[in-house]
Amino acid sequence: MKVTVVGAGNVGATVANVLATKNICSEVVLIDIKEGVSEGKAMDIMQTAHMLNFDTTVTGVTNDYAATANSQVVVVTSGIPRKPGMTREELIGTNAKIVKSVVDQALKYSPDAIFIIISNPMDAMTYLTLKDSKLPRNRVLGQGGMLDSSRFRYFLSKALQKAGYPATPTDIDGTVIGGHSDKTMVPLTSIATYRGIPVKQLLTDEQLKEAVEQTKVGGATLTKLLGTSAWYAPGAAAAAMVEAIALDAKKLIPCCVYLDGEYGEKDLCIGVPVVLGKDGMEKIVEYKLEGDEKAKFDESVQAARNTNSKLGDALK
Ligand code: LAC
Repeated sequence: MKVTVVGAGNVGATVANVLATKNICSEVVLIDIKEGVSEGKAMDIMQTAHMLNFDTTVTGVTNDYAATANSQVVVVTSGIPRKPGMTREELIGTNAKIVKSVVDQALKYSPDAIFIIISNPMDAMTYLTLKDSKLPRNRVLGQGGMLDSSRFRYFLSKALQKAGYPATPTDIDGTVIGGHSDKTMVPLTSIATYRGIPVKQLLTDEQLKEAVEQTKVGGATLTKLLGTSAWYAPGAAAAAMVEAIALDAKKLIPCCVYLDGEYGEKDLCIGVPVVLGKDGMEKIVEYKLEGDEKAKFDESVQAARNTNSKLGDALK
């Protein structure tokens, strides 16, 4: 499989690097507008091939979309990242123009590609990509839920450790739905488990609430520490989505997709559990949200609609 990663910043380079180490693609093309950066990062990644034992060819190009031709998956990381104190939503004006232009150019050379959008505000950028490209919804995915669920698992494992259970993140199953947004993402404590044991039986309401709050501001916490937004987990999350597509793995992964009646919503892109395989989104799994989860999801939907309304002219 050939994959293009647009944007050779921290996130894009991490997607290319993780994909290479997974050894599941024949070719990864890293493309950026900054002269030399993709070429340099691709070469650096290729010089790990012997140590890390992979046969994927990673190439870097400057703004040469012809080199991306016939990619099966295009991962879009382009745009500016947030700075400490900023919300993802504040990036909308700048990033909408960039994402639109990137998708147009990539689609010209890879008309059959599945798009994975990482650029923020991700849910709105996914919606913009879908509307602008007019692609069928199975081919436009946003990366957020996989990352947020992985952060949720990490914070739950820390909470369990504090409570006397030696949990690691891989011991935990946890899902986050809703928008990829500090205020309104919805970590689902009702179905989170520690090797099958519901975590709500092991943690107090207070401890659960703390893990939920830490998850929601997971990206902002890292932005404050790093001075820019995170890249290892966002990059690995997108690579995991590519892997499910490349291997036709039919994995259940929370990601941002266009809803057409599922969860009672229409005409927006937001995070829900999705089966990913060779066709991209192959199924949306719907299940009954518990307690206040439905109200929280509805709130998240309203917030996403509000952000979409700011896309303005970009949608035309
Ligand atoms: C984050 C950014 C990439 O959550 O959205 O780290």
